Parts: sequence; structure tokens; C-alpha cells
Amino acid sequence: MSSVALTNIATLVTNSTALGDGLLGISAMKTLVIENGKIAALSDRVPEGVGEVIDCAGKTVLPGFVDSHTHLVFAGDRSAEFAARSRGEKYSAGGIKTTVSATRAASDADLTSNVQSLLDEALAQGTTTVEIKSGYGLTLRDELRSLDVARAFTDETTLLAAHVIPEEFANNPDGYVDLIINEIIPASTAKWIDVFCDAGAFSPEQTRAILQAGKSAGMLPRIHANQLSRTTAVALAIELDAASADHLSASTDADIEALAASSTIATLLPGAEFSTQHEGRLGRRFLDRGARVAIATDCNPGSSYTTSMPFCISAAVSLLGFTVEEAVYAATSGGAAALRRTDIGSLEIGALADIAILKSPSYIHLAYRPGANLVETTLKAGRKVKTWQK
Ligand code: NIG
Ligand code: FE
Repeated sequence: MSSVALTNIATLVTNSTALGDGLLGISAMKTLVIENGKIAALSDRVPEGVGEVIDCAGKTVLPGFVDSHTHLVFAGDRSAEFAARSRGEKYSAGGIKTTVSATRAASDADLTSNVQSLLDEALAQGTTTVEIKSGYGLTLRDELRSLDVARAFTDETTLLAAHVIPEEFANNPDGYVDLIINEIIPASTAKWIDVFCDAGAFSPEQTRAILQAGKSAGMLPRIHANQLSRTTAVALAIELDAASADHLSASTDADIEALAASSTIATLLPGAEFSTQHEGRLGRRFLDRGARVAIATDCNPGSSYTTSMPFCISAAVSLLGFTVEEAVYAATSGGAAALRRTDIGSLEIGALADIAILKSPSYIHLAYRPGANLVETTLKAGRKVKTWQK
């Protein structure tokens, strides 16, 4: 049996109200014991015979971040588009096509090495679980190979063939919807299915047809909703029991109340709000109405080119109106709920020992010290890891 003890912990965030105080379940215990990759005990001392002891004096121990929304399989960058936004251009779905061309032209090896380096960045900043979408291939072959690339890194893979209508179907958008439903979905091996339901992307009717076909093929729905314009996507997400509705920037109060009364998680994407100069105080509107909220990076080369969950926590606090506790909870427990996972996102007994150790005495520093990487060590299933592996 392998065992590890983290000891002398300055602040231990468990995310369990049974184990500690407040939303984050801050424990009074100073030692966390891991056995066989899982949380075995919270204790006031290091047990006899433990295999490895990690001294956490002056440090914070918290669940690893769960990044429940990323678009990591792509080639190229769109820095010129970003610079144009700094001169007042508005973000639109149009830029996605640039990335589609670069992605189609890239080899599997190049796509894989891009994902590896982005996930190494994420891991170094405390992320331990990641969802990865396809969506820059938009042909049968390129969507399937994007999913194959993603699957080497995570089981949380998402088919987003319905990202935008590709150029070759510009005059026949329903022809592309048919291709998704009749060819891409039946061949997909993804766990989840997602649609970008928005201006310049897919209509609610097209979205419904695609998500229903995906569900019939055994995939579980999630949805890009109300990012650029308000549609009926939130009602659709709830009707189809989507695990999560994401972005939500243009949501009405009625949308938010409907989400709060549903089991669909509201996933907010602070990096996208930050980099497209969009909605301020968005988080408060959801949190005050009792919605269950996740935050994620949305890492992609257009609207949010960040792998950093601590950055997103910081942006959630300073831009979206979250308290620090709400933001840390949304980045850990919230992300787990958005992926319908109960084995991650907390340090309850029996949970996977996916852990970030901060070189600061409090989780507050995650928001208080934007831009500094405070993550000293990341553990996946109880093991220190320096490079991302599934
Ligand atoms: O989540 N909204 C759609 N997809 C991405 C952006 C994709 C891009 O601009 O490349 C998003 O923001
Ligand atoms: Fe997205």
C-alpha cells in the first residue's frame, strides 16, 4: 500500500462542510493522509509508517482545479485578432475559421504536442482534471482525429463538430447539420456533445436536433449558450438535461432563475469575459439567484487563450463579482459538478487525491496575487506530477 502524508498545513481547503468551516470546509486539521491515491484521513498527526511525508508549513492545500471547458485541440494563434480587439474591434464567431484552416493543415503529432504543452502549463498551475472539446476540424476526419488527440489526455472528451458552419457549407448550413447527425455523431467516441448555439453559429432548432442525435448515440449534452447574443439555448439545455450551460454572458434574469431551479450547472468563463472585454459582475447575478456555478478557462486561441485556473479565479473575483471563496469553490467543486463527477473537486474521505499545494498560507492569495504562479506542487491520484498524463 502506498501512503503519503501532507503535514503542518497552514490552510486545508476540503470543500466539505462536514469536514470544516464555511463554503470551502476549512479544516482545523494539519495533516492529510493519502492511501492508494485516495484521501484516507484528516488527522492532527502523521500516522506511523507512512511512506512519504510532505511538509506544508506556510502552505495551502486544496483540491486540484477542475477545468470543465477547454478547446485545446488546435493549431496556430490569433494574436492579431486579439490586438485588433485592443483597438476596439468586437469579438465574433468569424475568427474560428482561421483556426479551422490551421488545424486541418496540422499533423496529429503537432496537435498532440500543442495539447501536451498547454496541459503542462495547466498542471503547473494546479489543474488536475480537464475537459477537451473538438471543434476546429469540422470534417468527419478532422473531428475524429481531434477527439483521438484529446482522448490521449483525458476521458472528459466533447464532440463540438457544431462549433461553426465550415466554409464549404456556407451556402448549405443544414447540409452540415446533416453531416454531423448522420456521419460524425455515429462515429464519435466522445463522452459529451456540445453545440455553439449563437449568432454566427447554430440556431436553437439546429442545436436541438444535434443534441438529441448525440444523446441517442449515448453522449451527454452540454451547451455554449448566450455568449454573444441571447437565444433560447438555456431553456433547451434544461429541457435536454444538459450537465452544463456555458458562457451565459447575455442571459436574462429569467434564464438565470430557470438555471437556478434546474440541475444544469452554470459555467462562467472569466478568461473569455476578460479577453473579449464583455460582461462585468456576471457572477453575482447567478450566485445571488442560487444557481450552481462552475468556472473554467475556455482555453482557446480566439476568446480566451489562458490555461490558468488561478487567473480565472482572480478574474472571477475582480471582474465577475465572485467572493474569493465562491470563486475557489466554482473552480474545484463547481467544475466537478459540471462534469457530473463526485470523485473529484473535494478532499472528502475516499475522493481521488488530486491536490494543489500553494506556496502561500491562504487560498485568498489565488485572487489577491494575480499573475503570480503560487502552485508549488500538483498531485494527481496522490503522486507529484510535473508533466500532464491521463
Ligand atoms: O468558447 N464560443 C465558441 N467557441 C469558443 C471560441 C472559439 C474561438 O474564438 O476560436 C469560446 O469562446
Ligand atoms: Fe468555449
